[in-house]
Amino acid sequence: MNTPTVDQVNPQDYPGKDVYTVIGHPIAHSRSPIIHMTFAKQANEPIYYGRIFAELDEFKKKATEFFARGGKGMNITVPFKLEAYELGQKKTPRAELAKAANVLWMQDGELWCDNTDGIGLILDLKRLLKEQGQVLSGAKVLILGAGGAAQGVVAPLMDEGVTDLSLANRTFSKAEQMAQQFPSLKPLRMEDLAAFSEPQKFDLIINATATGLGDSSPIAKDVLAKLMHSKSVAYDMVYGKDTRFMKDAAELGIRAVDGLGMLVEQAADAFITWRKPQVSLDINAAIVAARATY
Ligand code: ATR
Repeated sequence: MNTPTVDQVNPQDYPGKDVYTVIGHPIAHSRSPIIHMTFAKQANEPIYYGRIFAELDEFKKKATEFFARGGKGMNITVPFKLEAYELGQKKTPRAELAKAANVLWMQDGELWCDNTDGIGLILDLKRLLKEQGQVLSGAKVLILGAGGAAQGVVAPLMDEGVTDLSLANRTFSKAEQMAQQFPSLKPLRMEDLAAFSEPQKFDLIINATATGLGDSSPIAKDVLAKLMHSKSVAYDMVYGKDTRFMKDAAELGIRAVDGLGMLVEQAADAFITWRKPQVSLDINAAIVAARATY
């Protein structure tokens, strides 16, 4: 499906359909339209889902305009999730916890916000580990990075009962700061990883650094080899390309996955809130449809 990126999606242009959109900066790469339209087809729901580009100071104006024209719901991506949270008149507990929202919708004349990013990641990781014969809550997990993306991963993993959780960052002081916020988190130095000699290797390594956007990996391939076993999963939160981290893992015979499944799962949760479909959504079909557009 080819959804044009426009300055504003006018819901009045789609008579007979409930209109939704994703908004961001940039936004042209977003797979949200194809994912939501795949769900709409599965559930036989008459919706249109568009894509809005907003300048950095335009989020509030564009979002307000969209809802004033009858728009039903919106997904919010980088860098507007904090502003979306502030715009919401009603906030779900998940949004309150994250202080950020990736979903807005109008219900009984009030604008609600929610955060489905955490649950999206957890559902995706559970599905992947199950396929490897493992359970997330008992897994030994390593997070790479200590920025905003890593911040969004730690709390949902802990809520899920992951107790063996380590975090390594290039700048060690930031890993230590995260460990102050989450006392059971083990901060590691990158040098600790290079010298890793524990018999129990990591079941899951999540790359939450910004390296996926370029062509580097936060850890060398030979270090990665020491950290993982044959049933481990190497997960990169970036989607749309095979990152260096993923390529290294694949070359070592380790299962490497990008963040597309997380995107599809967070979209499914929003779609269920918005449309309350009678059928269960086919997650794998939406992943396949989105991947076909790469
Ligand atoms: P985001 O909000 O997307 O997480 P961020 O807050 O800028 O972005 O954080 C980027 C993360 O990627 C940080 O953990 C950063 O490490 P530093 O804290 O040491 O800067 C990490 N990162 C970026 N480039 C990296 C590289 N080449 N190697 C290792 N880590 C890198």
